[in-house]
Amino acid sequence: MPPNHIPLIPYRPTLPAADAARAFYDTMRLRRTVRMFSDRPVPREIIESIILAAGTAPSGANKQPWRFVAVSDPTLKHKIRLAAEEEEREFYTRRAPPEWLVDLAPFGTDTDKEFLDVAPWLIAVFKLAKDDDGGATYYVNESVGIAVGLLLAAAHHAGLATLTHTPSPMGFLTQVLARPANERAFLLIPIGHPAPGAVVPDITRKPLGEIAAFEEG
Ligand SMILES: Cc1cc2nc3c(=O)[nH]c(=O)nc-3n(C[C@H](O)[C@H](O)[C@H](O)COP(=O)(O)O)c2cc1C
Repeated sequence: MPPNHIPLIPYRPTLPAADAARAFYDTMRLRRTVRMFSDRPVPREIIESIILAAGTAPSGANKQPWRFVAVSDPTLKHKIRLAAEEEEREFYTRRAPPEWLVDLAPFGTDTDKEFLDVAPWLIAVFKLAKDDDGGATYYVNESVGIAVGLLLAAAHHAGLATLTHTPSPMGFLTQVLARPANERAFLLIPIGHPAPGAVVPDITRKPLGEIAAFEEG
C-alpha cells in the first residue's frame, strides 16, 4: 500500500446499480430552481448536513477551497437583499447585453429579490483564492462548482428548494458578511420550502443524445 493510504470503504447501493442510477435520476429530474419561497423555518441541523454533503466534493489537491456562510439572521438577509437589488438594477438597466435580457425574459426575473428576505436560509458560497494559511489552491472554480452541485442535490434530496442566484458582481457579500480577503463570493443560494402554489418556468432539458456521446468498444 502506498504511504498515507487506507482501504477504500466501498459504497454499496441497496438496489441493483441500474435501478439505483435510475432512482437517483428520477429524484434529480424533479429539482427545479425555485424563486417563490415559504418563510417556514428549516432547522440548522438540516443545513449543516447539506453543507457537510457539499464538503465531500472532490477538489484540486484536496484543498477544499470553499466556504459556505449560512445566514438566517433577518437583518443580515435584508442587508443582502438591498445590496443585491442594487446590483440587479445596474444589471437590468445598464450592464446586461440585450441578448442576455432576451434570454432571461422567459424566467420572469426582475430587480425585486423578495426571496432574499423570505427564504429561511441564504447560503453564500465563497471560493478560496488562497488557503486560510496563505497556501495555494487549485482548480478552484471546478472544485467549488462541483461542491455546489452536491449542495443543490443534497438540499433537493432533503425536500428543500434552492435558487442558484448570481447578483453580479457579488463583492457586496464580502462586505455585508465581513469575510476575509482570501474568500471571493461565488454564488448566493436561498434555501427553504417552496411557497404554497409556487410556479416555475416551463422549460425542457436536453435529451441524452444532445448532452452525451458514447464511443463504445
Ligand atoms: C451559475 C448560475 C447562475 C444563475 N443565476 C440565476 C440568477 O441570478 N437568478 C435566477 O433567478 N436564476 C439563476 N439561475 C437559475 C437558472 O435560471 C436555472 O437553473 C435554469 O433556468 C434551469 O432551471 P432549473 O434550475 O429549474 O432546471 C442560475 C443558474 C446557474 C447555474
